[in-house]
Amino acid sequence: RIAYVNGRYIPHAEATVHVEDRGYQFADGVYEVCEVARGYIMDMTRHLDRLDRSLGELRIAWPVNRKALQMIMAEVIRRNKVENGMVYVQVTRGVAPRDHYFPDPKTPSSVVVTAKRTDTLATARKVEAGVKVITHPDNRWERVDIKTVGLLPNVLARQKAREAGAVEAWFFDADGMVTEGASTNAWIVTADGTLVTRPADSGILRGVTRATVMDVAAKLGLKVEERAFSVQEALKAKEAFITAATTVVMPVVAIDDTPVANGHPGETTLSIRAAFFEVAE
Ligand code: PDD
Repeated sequence: RIAYVNGRYIPHAEATVHVEDRGYQFADGVYEVCEVARGYIMDMTRHLDRLDRSLGELRIAWPVNRKALQMIMAEVIRRNKVENGMVYVQVTRGVAPRDHYFPDPKTPSSVVVTAKRTDTLATARKVEAGVKVITHPDNRWERVDIKTVGLLPNVLARQKAREAGAVEAWFFDADGMVTEGASTNAWIVTADGTLVTRPADSGILRGVTRATVMDVAAKLGLKVEERAFSVQEALKAKEAFITAATTVVMPVVAIDDTPVANGHPGETTLSIRAAFFEVAE
């Protein structure tokens, strides 16, 4: 495997950053994960737009320009011969002696790009079975709209999910309303077939897959309601699913060990997943 680190393509095993990289010391950085399908990066524009926004909110400079980053991502995919998988991009505020204040503005941002294949057979099996989620209080900071590498609450919640025999944790807010998954957006399908997901400007990350699923829903003539839903409502829903670049559209079949509907992946969920790859660019 080959990784790109600050201007160089190097063997993955030797791909390292400095001990005083601010990403390492302060989680002072942002990232993107993009799905690669048939050798192409899906939703590239939306991912780069979101990266631009994350960088802007934290006042981190682009490490290279947008066009160059796009070429680097394509090159990393090519060098790793990734047909189906993902590409990871991380940008931090760079390397400087440890100090909370921003470093000298001349300090270059650090950039890392890696890519890996996914096991498409394993994914197909997972889709067929559906996944379980647990619920977990949303104990993150209030800027979860920024895709930062500061993911400790997400890490702890997902680990708890795994230890409970689940795949994902759904965070819920002080009112018992689901915000999102630790690394996914959360959706339900109501009895009349309406898709429900929390508004993007209300304590969640604006998922790229979430946006594309909305395009897919429009194509399929499905209604989408952007509103918060409770854990209670999700338990009574007809279907539930999660979305992310890593899982695309994944059926949720149980919440805290209570089955969603009949405990099998929903039809609407599966039809959205099937149509997804035709709509995503
Ligand atoms: N996670 N919400 C959170 C908290 C996320 O971390 C992610 C993505 C999403 C879905 O966003 P998108 O559809 O753009 O992937 C929602 C990535 C995949 C990760 O951390 O691995």
